[in-house]
Amino acid sequence: MTKFKALVVSETAEKRYAHEVLERSVEDLPAGEVLIRVRYSSLNYKDALSASGNRGVTRRYPHTPGIDAAGEVAASDSDRFRPGDKVLCCCYNLGMNLPGGYGQYIRVPAAWVMSCPEGLSLREAMMYGTGGFTAALSVEKLIGHGVKPEDGKVLVTGATGGVGSLSVAILAKAGFQVVAASGKSDQADFLRRLGAAEVVDREAVTDRKGLALLKGKWAGVVDTVGGEILATALKSVKYGGVVTCCGNVASPELATTVYPFILRGVSLVGIEAAECDMATRERVWAKLAGVWRIDGIADMVTEVGLAGLSVQIESMLAGRHRGRIVVNLDS
Ligand SMILES: NC(=O)c1ccc[n+]([C@@H]2O[C@H](COP(=O)([O-])OP(=O)(O)OC[C@H]3O[C@@H](n4cnc5c(N)ncnc54)[C@H](OP(=O)(O)O)[C@@H]3O)[C@@H](O)[C@H]2O)c1
Repeated sequence: MTKFKALVVSETAEKRYAHEVLERSVEDLPAGEVLIRVRYSSLNYKDALSASGNRGVTRRYPHTPGIDAAGEVAASDSDRFRPGDKVLCCCYNLGMNLPGGYGQYIRVPAAWVMSCPEGLSLREAMMYGTGGFTAALSVEKLIGHGVKPEDGKVLVTGATGGVGSLSVAILAKAGFQVVAASGKSDQADFLRRLGAAEVVDREAVTDRKGLALLKGKWAGVVDTVGGEILATALKSVKYGGVVTCCGNVASPELATTVYPFILRGVSLVGIEAAECDMATRERVWAKLAGVWRIDGIADMVTEVGLAGLSVQIESMLAGRHRGRIVVNLDS
């Protein structure tokens, strides 16, 4: 029996969720064609929800979260992968309703596995992780819908978060003038180092007057928070502007009129990373490893072992952390 360590989240009698690092057996993992020895994972908002008992993300406990995993193939029944191959497995049902990347081994369908992008180490790949992939997908959608650097400023909301910070950095690298909106007034220097031309308080991009349209300021918006900030973004983009929407940390609600769409031709574009096809994954990851590779990405990364995850999860749920959290399964 091969034993390994995993973070296990269990429901307690008081309906709270306890985190423990426990020993598990490879033999108890679900069926799948590829067994992966996980070296690195990362912390995304969805992991924090799974680790705190959110039944919309994870139905049954005890459970091992971790929607991201990077490691070496340990055994494979698929012709596509051989033992020793360096691979990534991100999203699908990993870490939601199947044991995820916060365990030293995962077993998954071969269709979920991709080779680690050329030019990225396993650790570097998890610095981006699903947060970086979602940021790159958002920027790709903005550009694909016709937004160009010469069209004007692009707003990023939730800018110090995982998706937000990488969106700021990727947009800056792609030549855009980025305005970063954040609730953390002490993180302006961090956001400028990532490439933000301007940093604004999130209150400054939240309309509470209820007007149908505001002055058109942004050529595009990468929204990661939803709610009133997304509603305000729709009213504040210029004629023909584009807003991407991927998250709900502020609220899943969206109160809007049709005016931004019928008077300014604004587009609202949904971003979905979990189920997107392998061709999209490989194309977007190649950009993260290539044209959109962030030179100073290590500055926005905190590394923890399994035992250090609980503190980071608490901080993320309280909206206090910044940048990306990488999980080292061997530390
Ligand atoms: N659609 C998809 O496929 C997909 C993929 C990945 C992530 N997501 C979603 O995208 C969102 C961001 O994910 P993440 O991993 O980047 O999370 P994260 O690292 O926790 O970042 C969220 C950021 O939002 C801001 N924020 C927190 N609470 C807020 C509030 N009440 N009102 C306004 N802003 C608030 C904070 O930044 P500031 O302090 O700088 O404002 C925080 O750092 C989540 O909702 C996640 O589920 C979706």
